[in-house]
Amino acid sequence: MNIETKSPVPGFDDSYTLALGLDTGPLSTDPYISPAHYELERERVFGRAWLAMGREEQVPESGSYIVRELEVCNASVLIVRQKSGGIQAFHNVCSHRQNLIMNSSEGRAPRFTCRYHSWTFGTDGALLSVPDERRFFDFDKKKCGLTPIATEVWQGWIFINMQSEPEVSLAEFLGDFGKFYTGVPFPGSGHSLKFEANLDANWKVISDAFAESYHVPSIHNKTLRPAFSNASNPFARPIRASAWGPHSAYSAFANLEYAPPENALGERLAYRNMGANNIISPSGANEIDKLLGHPSINPNNSAEWCSDANVIFPNFHLDVSFGGFFIHHFWPTSHRSTRWVAEYFMEPAADFQTRLQQEYYAIRNIEVLLEDIGNTERVQKGMETRAKRNIYLQDGEVIIRNLLHHIDRWIKADSAREALDL
Ligand SMILES: [Fe+2]
Repeated sequence: MNIETKSPVPGFDDSYTLALGLDTGPLSTDPYISPAHYELERERVFGRAWLAMGREEQVPESGSYIVRELEVCNASVLIVRQKSGGIQAFHNVCSHRQNLIMNSSEGRAPRFTCRYHSWTFGTDGALLSVPDERRFFDFDKKKCGLTPIATEVWQGWIFINMQSEPEVSLAEFLGDFGKFYTGVPFPGSGHSLKFEANLDANWKVISDAFAESYHVPSIHNKTLRPAFSNASNPFARPIRASAWGPHSAYSAFANLEYAPPENALGERLAYRNMGANNIISPSGANEIDKLLGHPSINPNNSAEWCSDANVIFPNFHLDVSFGGFFIHHFWPTSHRSTRWVAEYFMEPAADFQTRLQQEYYAIRNIEVLLEDIGNTERVQKGMETRAKRNIYLQDGEVIIRNLLHHIDRWIKADSAREALDL
């Protein structure tokens, strides 16, 4: 639902939290620090939800593959473009002695050979050849193919589900968000600038750092604050919040008066080729305009818009700004560690000006992202002191509250269908 209703609570007649029907009280730190809670998340959230893995452009041709380690699911996942054109994920596990087959994170191969004893599998998972096969007992090659993992693609995004027979389809899982976001073009989706870090913090500590703009005037004081707040909105309150069950979105505010200072020569060069107000961009306005023209981007059509963050449950952010689109994956590796991967998509530069823009865009993003993640391990340590057992969320942090609410719901529900209210 889009939040447009007015709250009856005095002083909060524009509350996103109340309009969403969420509680307003403090929240327990348990989901961030408890190993037992993490085990429940593994089984009931990550074990039942559809999980975004990447773009279909990352496996462009028959035999193209990517490998993703999913510690949270005790899985190594091999995702392969099929001869038929479809995409199928398998456990990256040899049927013989269970060695992990493919070591590189991406590539293209006509078949997959386990380096231990050279058992060889086709791109469709079928076991093709076994050295000295006649010495195995009662052996049926047909029963020894790779184990498939449920795979579906939505708008070019590859999702998997670790249930052997998923309770809900990807369309059911994405629900009204999936319908709302249909037809959005993703320019430059075959090429990205990728950042990856392993952080000693619960995965939600990292995802929370990208789920609100309240922190912008504070932690991004010298970088983003002048462009993303002003006298009328000094605390960078979001200009819109929406939720569709467990999935949610907010739009961030742009200060239309902002211009790069005289001495910001790099920023001014990067601006030269822009059709938009105050966001640096890795490409010309034409490519980005196709994206920004879709009605689901900046859905309230606000002039003071700079970006949308779409939080796809549980651990995937699909974001759009004047710079194009970018994503975050937050992969838990334990209850207090996370592999965070961010990718900023863009067409490869075809000329010097664009290359310069992209270099500046990269430097700028690294600076800002370091501010975001630089705080997260300290948050985890603070929570683990157990000096305090609650966190407080203000109205602008509603997306974090929605995520915590739905994680709790999935943990308590007997089925994914029940958690989704289907
Ligand atoms: Fe930030």
